[in-house]
Amino acid sequence: MSDQKKHNKLTTASGRIYVENDNTKTVGPRGPVLVEDYILHEKMAHFNRERIPERVMHAKGSGAYGVFTVTNDISKYTKAKLFNKIGKKTKVFVRFSTVGGEKGSADTERDPRGFAVKFYTEDGNWDLVGNNTPIFFIKDPKKFSDFIHTQKRDPYTNMKSPTMMWDFWSLMPESLHQVLILMSDRGTPYGYRYMNGYGSHTFSMVNDKNDKVWVKFHFKTEQGIKNFTSEEAVEMKAKDMDFAQRDLLEAIDKGDFPKWQLKIQVMTEDQARHLDFNPFDLTKVWPHGDFPLIEVGELELNQDPDNYFQEVEQSAFAPAHVVDGIGYSPDKMLQGRILSYPDTHRYRLGANYEQIPVNRCPFAVNNYDRDGLMRIDGNGGRKSNYYPNSFDDIEVDKEYYEPSEALDDNIADWYDRNSKIGGNDHYSQARALFRDIMNLEEQDNTIANTIEAMSGNSGPKREEIIYRQLCHWFRVDEEFGSRVADGLGVDVNSVMASMNAAHG
Ligand code: HEM
Repeated sequence: MSDQKKHNKLTTASGRIYVENDNTKTVGPRGPVLVEDYILHEKMAHFNRERIPERVMHAKGSGAYGVFTVTNDISKYTKAKLFNKIGKKTKVFVRFSTVGGEKGSADTERDPRGFAVKFYTEDGNWDLVGNNTPIFFIKDPKKFSDFIHTQKRDPYTNMKSPTMMWDFWSLMPESLHQVLILMSDRGTPYGYRYMNGYGSHTFSMVNDKNDKVWVKFHFKTEQGIKNFTSEEAVEMKAKDMDFAQRDLLEAIDKGDFPKWQLKIQVMTEDQARHLDFNPFDLTKVWPHGDFPLIEVGELELNQDPDNYFQEVEQSAFAPAHVVDGIGYSPDKMLQGRILSYPDTHRYRLGANYEQIPVNRCPFAVNNYDRDGLMRIDGNGGRKSNYYPNSFDDIEVDKEYYEPSEALDDNIADWYDRNSKIGGNDHYSQARALFRDIMNLEEQDNTIANTIEAMSGNSGPKREEIIYRQLCHWFRVDEEFGSRVADGLGVDVNSVMASMNAAHG
C-alpha cells in the first residue's frame, strides 16, 4: 500500500489501520467487552491524558505569530543583532493573557493582561514577558506566591475572595500604584488589540564598545487604547467568555493585523546613581519627561496558530531568555523571574520543553544536554555528549562576553525592600497618575470601580481591611479617599474619633 493511500486511513497511534470505530468488540451482541480491543484502550487512555497542568497563573490566553521590523537605529545603545539594521525583520510569537483566572475563565475580568513576546533572533530566542502595565504589585519575588494566592480561590470557599485581595493589598502599600491602574478602566481592556504592552522591569543594553545603559521597553498600540467600562465588562462576560480570543483571532483571520510600536526609555548608569528613587523598583515608572520614549520598531501580528494546544498552550516564555546586547538588571523581581519560569516550564511541559516547535530556536542550538522525557530532536545523534572533547568543533565564543559588573555593595543581608534606599514612597507616583494623567471621566470611573471592588470585602475583618486601605487612598489623594469612603458608607470623621478614643 502506498504511503499516500495509507495516509487516508484511520489508524492507531502506531499506524495500524482501524477496521471499526463505532462498536467495541464484545462476546455476543449483548455480551461483555473483550480486553483485546486495543483500539478502545488507546482511545480512552489517550483521552485520559489530554490535560497538562495549566499555567499556575496567566492560564487563559491567546496567541499569534507576527513580525517585528526595525524602524530606527538604536545601535548606539545595543549590539543586539535583531536591531542592527533599519528594515530588518524578525519573526515573533506573542501570547496575551489574563492573570488570575483558570484556563476556562472569562476574558473580560478586571485583571492585568499578560503581553509576552518571543523574538526568534539569530542569536537565540529573546523573550520579553511583560504585562499591559508598566509596573507591578510587589517589588520582591519572595512575596509573589503570597500575592498570587490572593488572586486565586479561597482555600475554604473555593471562590475568588475580594477580602483576601484587599487584605493583602492594604498590608502591602507598595501595591498601591498598580492597584490604582487595576481599578481604572485599563483593568478591563477591550480585548488584546487596544492595549499597550510593557517589559515593566528595568533591563540593560550593551553596545559594541561594551557601554551599558538601563532600558525600559514599551509597546504602544497603533489601534488606540480602548477599554470596557466595568458594566460593559460584566455584560460581555455573560455574552462571550472568550471575547478577547475571538476578537484577536477574527481580526487576524480577516487581514486586519494589529500593530504596536516598540519604544524604549534609556537611563545611563550615572543617571541611575543620582535618581531620587530606585530605578530597579518594579512599582515605579520612569517619568517620560526625564526619560523620553525612543522609537525602535513595529510589531505586527499577522498569523493565527493552526492548533491552539500545540502552539499557544505549549508556548513557554522566560525572562531568562535574553540575547547578546540585551541583559538583566538588579531588579529583584526580574532576578526572581529568571529562576522561576524555566523551572515552571520543566514542571508543566517537561525538561525538553525548548524542543516544542513554538519554543524552539530556529537557528543553531548546540549543547551537551541529553535525554529526558520526550526528547525528539535527534538527541545529538552520535555526537559527543561531553565537553571538552576531541571530536567536535563546538566552542564558546568570547566575542559574546558580557562586560564585568561593579556592584554597589558587598555585604549580603535581607535588606528591607521598603527602606529609604529600597524605595519607601508608595504614594507620589500614584498621586501623579490620578491627578495629572487621568482625565475627569477616568477619575470618576476609577473611583466607582474601586468602590465596587472594595464592596466585595466580607467577614469579621471587613472594617479593619477597608479602613486600612482607605488610609492609603487618602494618602494618594484626599478627594479619592473621601469619595471611596462615601461610596462604601464609611463616616470617616466618626471612625477617626473612635480610633482616637480607643488609643486614649
Ligand atoms: C517574582 C515575580 C514573578 C514570578 C515568580 C512569576 C511567575 C510566573 C509563572 C510561574 C508563570 C507561569 C508560566 C507558565 O507556566 O508558562 C508566569 C506567567 C506569566 N507571567 Fe509571571 N511571575 C512574576 C512576575 C511577573 C511580572 C512582573 C510580569 C510582567 C511584567 C509577569 C508576566 C507574566 C506573563 C505575561 C506570563 C504568561 C506568559 C505566557 O503567556 O505564557 N510576571 N509567571
